[in-house]
Amino acid sequence: MEKIAVYGASGFTGSLVVAELARRGVPVVLVGRDEQRLRGAAEGVPGAEVRRAGVEDQAALAAAFDDCAAVVNCVAPFELFGEPVVRAAVAARAHYVDTNGEQSYLKRVFDTFGEPARRAGVTVVPALADDGGPGDLIAHLTAEALGPGACLAELTVADLREPGAVSRGTARTALANRGLWGGGHGLVWADGAWRDGAGHAGADRATVPVPVPEMADGRGTGDLAVAPFALPGVVTVPRHVTADRIDAVMRAEVVPLFGAVTEEAVAALPEGPDPAARRASRWLMAAYAVGRDGRRAQGSVTGPDGYGLTAVIAVEGALRLVAGAAAAGVLAPSQAFDPADFLAALEPHGVRWSVRAGDAR
Ligand SMILES: NC(=O)c1ccc[n+]([C@@H]2O[C@H](COP(=O)([O-])OP(=O)(O)OC[C@H]3O[C@@H](n4cnc5c(N)ncnc54)[C@H](OP(=O)(O)O)[C@@H]3O)[C@@H](O)[C@H]2O)c1
Repeated sequence: MEKIAVYGASGFTGSLVVAELARRGVPVVLVGRDEQRLRGAAEGVPGAEVRRAGVEDQAALAAAFDDCAAVVNCVAPFELFGEPVVRAAVAARAHYVDTNGEQSYLKRVFDTFGEPARRAGVTVVPALADDGGPGDLIAHLTAEALGPGACLAELTVADLREPGAVSRGTARTALANRGLWGGGHGLVWADGAWRDGAGHAGADRATVPVPVPEMADGRGTGDLAVAPFALPGVVTVPRHVTADRIDAVMRAEVVPLFGAVTEEAVAALPEGPDPAARRASRWLMAAYAVGRDGRRAQGSVTGPDGYGLTAVIAVEGALRLVAGAAAAGVLAPSQAFDPADFLAALEPHGVRWSVRAGDAR
């Protein structure tokens, strides 16, 4: 089996990705800036290799990925350190996935690396984490429920997870995206282009029907208050769904938590939530579609342990790319993979999903 490199392998998510690759018997190359931390992360992983390469050294990065079939990037924050890793993966002709959830970085990857990736014959699928992956896949399936290639008036992607513990890297990422996460509106897709959502408010929903009853709020009304949020889906979904408007919202009570993060709070956090907290947590991504003819559809996908599932999702994607699943270039998850087939592969890990047309508000 071909080797897969993990960048930021000594981080919280990186270590989970290394464990998932090892569980599947894939030879792992741990890459990062600190050799000692990488050696610690490689302990007990059969056949693991360690290669030191900082993001400031493009040649060392490309050399570290040279004999690898794919790279899984788990650096934090991507806004600051992500791009050199994409560039090096493409230079080494290795497929690339990452765990970012940062809209501005994600848009830059699509804008910058499409042509280089096509020339190199490799596939880049950024934002393959528990929000960007399932959110994109369920949005595609929800739109499709209104008919193959249906033209939509609007589609809303929603992150409806409950408030819960986040990793230090996620909190640091929130700081780097301050003004977007927890305060700003992010992008919307409107009339054929990405636009600043702040100047394009309008169709954003203030509430959404909760697709999974146990994730309803305390009032148990079945509706959940939401607020605009810069989710990856706004960047990825317009690449495979035709809609006049695509926007994104998050459970309203969670949005200000991202905006409230400080340097002191980041420093005080443990590296990541402990296993019990991870097991007790759930993530929920939903999509709400309205056709130009007024028909409606809604879809949802939910699972436990956002960080553990992120590792499963990123590894599943990387292995599918290595197996030759996708065309060369930078692709949204639903362009690279069959959405229903990919979600079915997550079901043994506790993921449940459904789509229904006709009765959604
Ligand atoms: N969207 C989602 O649903 C989702 C889910 C999971 C994770 N994520 C994202 O994945 C990323 C990783 O999160 P995490 O909790 O694993 O963070 P983390 O534990 O802080 O790990 C970050 C990694 O980046 C490396 N790094 C930091 N600064 C670097 C630099 N200047 N040069 C080279 N490497 C550097 C760290 O290296 P050292 O080990 O040497 O410190 C570490 O390996 C975050 O952006 C997080 O938001 C997103």
